[in-house]
Amino acid sequence: MSAKITRRQALTIGAVGAGVVAVGAAATMISRAVLDEPSIGEVDGAPVPESPSAEGLPGWSEPEVLTSRDGVLELDLRVAAAEVVVGGATVQMLAYNGTVPGPTLHLRAGDTLRVHLRNELGVPTNLHTHGLHVSGEGNSDNPLLDIAPGESFDYEIVLPDDHPAGVNWYHPHRHGMVADQIFAGLYGAIIVDDEDWEAAAPRVVVVSDTTIIDGRVAEVSRPQRMAGRTGEMLLTNGQPAPALRGAAGSEQRLLLINACASRYLDLGFAGLAAQLRGVDSLRLAAPEAVERRVLAPGNRVDVIVRVPDAETPVVAAPYDRGQAGMGMGGQSTAAPEAVVLRLVPDSASAAPGVADAAGSTWQDLREREPDGARTLTLSMGMGGGMGGGMRFLIDGREFAHHRIDQEVRLGTMEEWTIVNDSMMAHPFHLHIWPMQVVRVAEQAVSGIDVRDVIDVPPFSSVTVRLAFERFPGRTVYHCHILDHEDLGMMGVLRAS
Ligand code: C2O
Ligand code: CU
Ligand code: CU
Repeated sequence: MSAKITRRQALTIGAVGAGVVAVGAAATMISRAVLDEPSIGEVDGAPVPESPSAEGLPGWSEPEVLTSRDGVLELDLRVAAAEVVVGGATVQMLAYNGTVPGPTLHLRAGDTLRVHLRNELGVPTNLHTHGLHVSGEGNSDNPLLDIAPGESFDYEIVLPDDHPAGVNWYHPHRHGMVADQIFAGLYGAIIVDDEDWEAAAPRVVVVSDTTIIDGRVAEVSRPQRMAGRTGEMLLTNGQPAPALRGAAGSEQRLLLINACASRYLDLGFAGLAAQLRGVDSLRLAAPEAVERRVLAPGNRVDVIVRVPDAETPVVAAPYDRGQAGMGMGGQSTAAPEAVVLRLVPDSASAAPGVADAAGSTWQDLREREPDGARTLTLSMGMGGGMGGGMRFLIDGREFAHHRIDQEVRLGTMEEWTIVNDSMMAHPFHLHIWPMQVVRVAEQAVSGIDVRDVIDVPPFSSVTVRLAFERFPGRTVYHCHILDHEDLGMMGVLRAS
């Protein structure tokens, strides 16, 4: 049986995410709402959707894993509209190779990644490998390319031999269309490690959000873009609140990516004896106990959880990113509570076991004297373009493709203070070089905290240190509320 999802059902499915306590009870109702709704019609030629699990909510599924061989991973990546099944209903999204998320790319340090990208959208796109420490020039991880509709492009991305193990991801980066394309389903995981996944398979957990109306991804208004859109449905590997089963007491290793266009995930791990092993593209020297962790859009965590004796959801708590500005029509930046996944004890499941892993070697940049210091100011100004409203600026300017905003010298280490002079939070992201956070709101940070997306709260600042090593050429930094990036909150850096 095929089903189109209606707006009302989308809301119902979205509400599953909100029902923390009543997940089990609500589940039966939802499956009926999705499957027995009289208004559901047949979609010609659509594939038969998978039947929901016993509870009526989706079971666990993960994207296909493509692993490099002899130092190379080569793949065709088709970017096109596709019919996919979400929560038991067939909907139209955008997909890499027909699935949401796209395939997981499993790489090792020193590998070469060759991607033959074919753009079958009606609009331009391109490809960014978020978190990889690789060149941003030419046909490597170049965010300034434009792959026109109907065109193909061959990427070749070479990971250095000492590339750190960590959780990364890929997504489009064509300025002006990034949030729309991600919201519609274009994202996938890139995991760099030297582990044998046959023995101890980690769980790839790609979290995204979207809004489906009448079987299609909803358009968003200009005020929603200015606030940073929040989808009505939270999806984990493309499904709402899927059940991850494991033997009670066994450990599951989650490689979790916040692929939402603009939503922060305030993740709670209470009752799961969670151990944080890594953040973004790096591993911690030793795992740390973690009960709660906020992931800005673009952030990742590598975390081990223990399957409890009773079904327990991993929940994203309600999160408010601050005030939306004037001209945003009262648009809220708040995201409601939502279930990311449910851990379900199941004695029939095998316990995979989690292998030990070495931490990344990161030289503490506080031990070095910076070669320079800069301040970058994130702000919002009045008078944004045709529809009016706010402008999204870095150092008072909107993104310009051919302007160089920061010139840095390779081999130097700099201290950057990112100032947020607005009433909304902005997660600051720099491509290629991870940032070590040294001060938050003028308070020194203890310990080594390295990330590639860093939340900068309203009217506050964060100071980071950056070692510009190898990789000459241009790349970008921007707000990872991708609606803000599309509206201009991005700059170009050139290293030489
Ligand atoms: Cu996740 Cu410039 O990107
Ligand atoms: Cu990036
Ligand atoms: Cu922003």
